[in-house]
Amino acid sequence: MYRILSKETVGPAIREYIVEAPEVARAARPGQFLVIRLHEDGERIPLTIVDTDDATGGITVVVQEVGKTTLEMGDRFGVGDGILDVVGPLGEASEIERFGTVICVGGGVGIAPLFPIARALREAGNRVIGIIGARSQEHLFYEEPMRNACDELHVMTDDGSAGDRGFVSDKLREILESGLSVDRVWAIGPAIMMKVCAETTRPFGVKTIVSINSVMIDGTGMCGGCRVEVAGAAKFACVDGPEFDAHEVNFDLLMSRQALYCEDEACSLERYKMRNPVGEERDQ
Ligand SMILES: Cc1cc2nc3c(=O)[nH]c(=O)nc-3n(C[C@H](O)[C@H](O)[C@H](O)COP(=O)(O)OP(=O)(O)OC[C@H]3O[C@@H](n4cnc5c(N)ncnc54)[C@H](O)[C@@H]3O)c2cc1C
Ligand code: FES
Repeated sequence: MYRILSKETVGPAIREYIVEAPEVARAARPGQFLVIRLHEDGERIPLTIVDTDDATGGITVVVQEVGKTTLEMGDRFGVGDGILDVVGPLGEASEIERFGTVICVGGGVGIAPLFPIARALREAGNRVIGIIGARSQEHLFYEEPMRNACDELHVMTDDGSAGDRGFVSDKLREILESGLSVDRVWAIGPAIMMKVCAETTRPFGVKTIVSINSVMIDGTGMCGGCRVEVAGAAKFACVDGPEFDAHEVNFDLLMSRQALYCEDEACSLERYKMRNPVGEERDQ
């Protein structure tokens, strides 16, 4: 069992957990992820490692409640409770080097996985420009950690309630069009956001890295569930990624594969809600 050391709500249906997993904490590097299973009957879900603490053996994950398992975690798992399985760190770590000027773009819950990468890039001597975005101010989180991790941070909201109005890709285009020499871009968020960022940087010839959130089951390259097409070849996001060159990813295929189990996921959520009526939520 992996004990939950802390749990905090950081946004609407977004929670940050610190889970005690000292061996994972020691080995983890930015860009890597875990596969967790809450209990014996639970499904396996991948979550990115946002931070680690060698002293407490804690690993931080930020979870957006979008379906049965993430909702169950938010409803039923509090401080002191144990998660049955935590497997990791999985996947290839981010390539952290001194590139020069790097733009880190995060959308929605993608801001959390971007944070350790931005911090590591800055520690490696890069000038890091952050762009984070959400639907509205209410949905924005991790602004302070990102501000500390970056040399310069731009905030975008769809409705203009915080920062500038517009998408993160609008600010990305604005910076590239300003003529600033940019050596690399990282973009993490919903597949459509990463696709638009890839198309934004392509004409400028700036190498762009995305973290692919395909459906994962085993997380070890055995099941084929996370298959993604990169430069015309089949890759497994769990072992070959999750980060890939954005200009080589087939995002349309990724999005259609992400939607493969929509009906089953909706049924599973409905069953969970019927068995667990709302109002029983525990925060701590
Ligand atoms: C490498 C990687 C890192 C991720 N990191 C985070 C993170 O740090 N925080 C976070 O909130 N989410 C993260 N996700 C997405 C997260 O795994 C899914 O939101 C979660 O599995 C949804 O499960 P559910 O039962 O709550 O929802 P469901 O109703 O089962 O699914 C809702 C949506 O989540 C996606 N999804 C469902 N099952 C999986 C699965 N096994 N693998 C991947 N995606 C799935 C699908 O797009 C689906 O439409 C990550 C995904 C990947 C691949
Ligand atoms: S999750 Fe099974 S091969 Fe990647």
